[in-house]
Amino acid sequence: MKRAFTRRDFLRTGVGVGAASMLAGSEGLLGGQSKKAAASSAGKPVVVASGNGIPATAKAMDLLRQGANPLDAVIAGVNIVEDDPDDTSVGYGGLPNEDGVVELDASVMYGPDHAAGAVAALRNIKNPSQVAKLVMTRTDHALLVGEGALRFAKAHGFAEENLLTDKSREIWLKWKETLSDRDNWIAPQSDKVAEELKPYIASYGTINCIAVNAKGDLAGVTTTSGLAFKLAGRVGDSPIIGAGLYIDNEVGAAGSTGRGEANILNCGSFSVVEFMRQGLSPENACLETLKRIVKTTAYQPRLIDADGLPTFGLNFYALNKKGEYGSASIWSGAKYAVHDGTKNRLIEGAYLYERKK
Ligand code: GLY
Repeated sequence: MKRAFTRRDFLRTGVGVGAASMLAGSEGLLGGQSKKAAASSAGKPVVVASGNGIPATAKAMDLLRQGANPLDAVIAGVNIVEDDPDDTSVGYGGLPNEDGVVELDASVMYGPDHAAGAVAALRNIKNPSQVAKLVMTRTDHALLVGEGALRFAKAHGFAEENLLTDKSREIWLKWKETLSDRDNWIAPQSDKVAEELKPYIASYGTINCIAVNAKGDLAGVTTTSGLAFKLAGRVGDSPIIGAGLYIDNEVGAAGSTGRGEANILNCGSFSVVEFMRQGLSPENACLETLKRIVKTTAYQPRLIDADGLPTFGLNFYALNKKGEYGSASIWSGAKYAVHDGTKNRLIEGAYLYERKK
């Protein structure tokens, strides 16, 4: 008869001894229940974000310098962008679904506890990243969606508000009016409209922000209004742990922006972290993951152009425990934000293909 595997057995194994010795030195967010992952490596704090994340990296670094927990630091950083009515890809002012309703996705992950929380298709709440943290710290779940996520947010005192700004409503209305010449919406009589709408069609804008503190502890957040004019209920990669965000406190952190469907199908952020575990630099880990995604995309003819290349964009951001960072995109031209403790700046990322004119 098989004997149950006991705590003593666990500690006798290499894994057990290693894990036990890792328990010291990290701040847990889950109180007494927390077993902290990974010994820390001393270094300086670094914060990395997508190209729309300069205010987020500035805020997060400021808080890290004051000794804040890295997860609280990155959430406070992205809250600035969630609150910004002019960023049409995140939070308040984000572009709505095809029915004109804003639905937000967000996830957080905290390295020392190897814990994560996420919300998807959340309506009427401006800061889904804060709700995602509460899913992590105040429930036994990893992901709440739709109506249940909204009820949970309200139970924690979040106020419901209309997230559609005049700007995002007018963009949606123009899109709706130009859909068909066979419905009862009359298309705007201007040649410029198609041009005006271009940046918003197939737009997957999002903010990802990842950080390491001086002790080598990692945390991250990804938050978005998702694909503009999506089907109601569509969920992208941002709230999917392993796709839009992943952290292993022994290795590093990764997150993404861009076409979520391609990322979900390839567990992109998990793959970036695993490549870093194998010794690749953060930039090369992003590039290798993108190559794999491009390869699998080729199985879907509707997603490739005449040259056999993807018709969409996807970007990864990566940071390892030592504070080394990098980013890569399918197409050239993308920048990402880095605060390395000295300077807060946008840097050109690596890429697979030169963007076509
Ligand atoms: N990456 C954001 C989305 O696909 O919704």
